Amino acid sequence: MEIIITSNYNKLCEECIRIISDRLHQKPNLVMGLPAGKTPLGVYRKLVRAYHQGNLDFSRIRIFNLDEYVGLPTDSKHSFHYYLWNNLLRHINIKRSNIYLLDSTKPDLEKASQNYEKKIKAMDGIDLMMLGIGKNGHIGFNEPGSSLSSRTRVKTLIPTSAQSKPRFVLTMGIGTIMEAKEVIILARGNAKAGIVKKMVEGSITADVPASVLQWHPRVICILDRASARLLKKKKYWQWIRKHKIEMVEKD
Ligand code: GLP
Repeated sequence: MEIIITSNYNKLCEECIRIISDRLHQKPNLVMGLPAGKTPLGVYRKLVRAYHQGNLDFSRIRIFNLDEYVGLPTDSKHSFHYYLWNNLLRHINIKRSNIYLLDSTKPDLEKASQNYEKKIKAMDGIDLMMLGIGKNGHIGFNEPGSSLSSRTRVKTLIPTSAQSKPRFVLTMGIGTIMEAKEVIILARGNAKAGIVKKMVEGSITADVPASVLQWHPRVICILDRASARLLKKKKYWQWIRKHKIEMVEKD
């Protein structure tokens, strides 16, 4: 895992944009997986701004989303479909035919899940998966205890995640996420500090689904200072990062 500890949320978003821009310039038809949640909102805002300033072109990008509530119409304000559409997709020059969002309104969700997996495979997999992390370590809606090799499927939310929201969700599986060629995971704020420590420095366990990312060959974990504060090896991570930057600058 590459750990990037930033001084604040704005810097966290800038780091993320730097990586996305780089990958998009390298491969204009990049296949991305995108999450919902509060954490990536600043990244989406900056992507829209970069597009309007003429710095990024999304005309060939292909997008998959990570998860969705079951039982919500796609135009419901609470759906991730609505979220992604309004926070990013409708503001950039992405082709509609390149947008693949989980459709939880389909009558046969098992088939819809299998078709989603097939579509990802047909694109030769996801190049860059962006993730947030739940306070209990979930990625997507893979709650603690989810199989570490799970695929896209219907899941039941645990009470703390569901609260007043729908109880069932569709989510890419942990196995699906792990097949992405590169993963960026973002965490922000004090409330995530405990789980960030477990994800980065704890044991790999289904009890902390995000910990399985330690097994992935290309993960970049972008943190703000607050979410990184409990890392035991904070100085070590910062040292590695500093020297990596120096090495890149020398080239
Ligand atoms: C949600 C979503 C995840 C998201 C996570 C963190 O429940 N299923 O995809 O990454 O929780 O959300 P936030 O960024 O708002 O903390």
